[in-house]
Amino acid sequence: MVFKKMAGVLCMSTVLAGGFLANDVSAANVDKLVGVCADCHGKNGASTESDIPIIGGYSSEFLVTNLKAYKSKDRDCPGTKYRSGSKKGTKTDMCQIVKDMSPADIKDVANYFSQQKFVRAKQKFDPVLAKKGKELHDDLCEKCHTEGGTVADDDVGMPAGQWIPYLRQAMEEFKSGKRPIAKKMKVKLDEVDKAGLEALVNYYGSIR
Ligand code: HEC
Ligand code: HEC
Repeated sequence: MVFKKMAGVLCMSTVLAGGFLANDVSAANVDKLVGVCADCHGKNGASTESDIPIIGGYSSEFLVTNLKAYKSKDRDCPGTKYRSGSKKGTKTDMCQIVKDMSPADIKDVANYFSQQKFVRAKQKFDPVLAKKGKELHDDLCEKCHTEGGTVADDDVGMPAGQWIPYLRQAMEEFKSGKRPIAKKMKVKLDEVDKAGLEALVNYYGSIR
């Protein structure tokens, strides 16, 4: 009896120690991964590079979906390079960056960035185009990108305050089929010509 009880206690403590150890390893791993992201996406995902999206403050669901899409190469991975850190100037792309991340890593990193603040880009925009863009947005995009595209929990990204050059590229990727897109968004996007796209990105870029 005594032996059985002791074994039970022993077993419990082993499980607990194992649990703590796993948490520490996972936390250290997240720090390391997030450090890599910061070399391009900036501190806490508040990118200051106009061709690299701000990702801090996006919903965890949106981030997981897109990281998985890069991993499966369903989403195009345009070439880019490290902007700071020890690899500064080295060429790479998002597919290479997520290649060795496990599903658990992806979830942890997405959780981390979803808890950061979305710091809107301060950038130049064309006020006339922005006004036209707002009309297009209200008419075609507001249904899914609510409150002018400012709501993280819509799980569709937040175009409001995102960098204009990045948005321009994202729109081209959707239009050309290089990036997966909701069928209903495709229908709306097909109604927008090149000038309309430019108006839309200026509208989103005008939101501070
Ligand atoms: C070498 C620079 C670089 C590094 C390092 C990097 N990224 Fe990126 N990231 C980019 C670029 C450039 C894009 C835009 C690519 C595109 O148009 O698809 C991007 C796009 C993304 C997107 C899509 C955002 C959106 O709005 O659709 C997510 C999510 C993302 N990165 C997360 C991460 C995470 C997490 C890490 C760290 C594990 C990371 N990135 C590391 C350059 C980088
Ligand atoms: C039926 C719903 C729906 C409509 C309508 C819609 N979208 Fe989207 N949009 C989505 C979804 C879903 C995503 C996320 C795709 C993903 O996870 O990569 C998205 C993503 C985006 C992104 C990428 C954000 C990022 O950070 O990478 C942009 C930009 C965008 N939409 C612009 C528009 C514009 C402009 C319109 C109107 C012309 C529009 N959308 C209409 C559902 C919609």
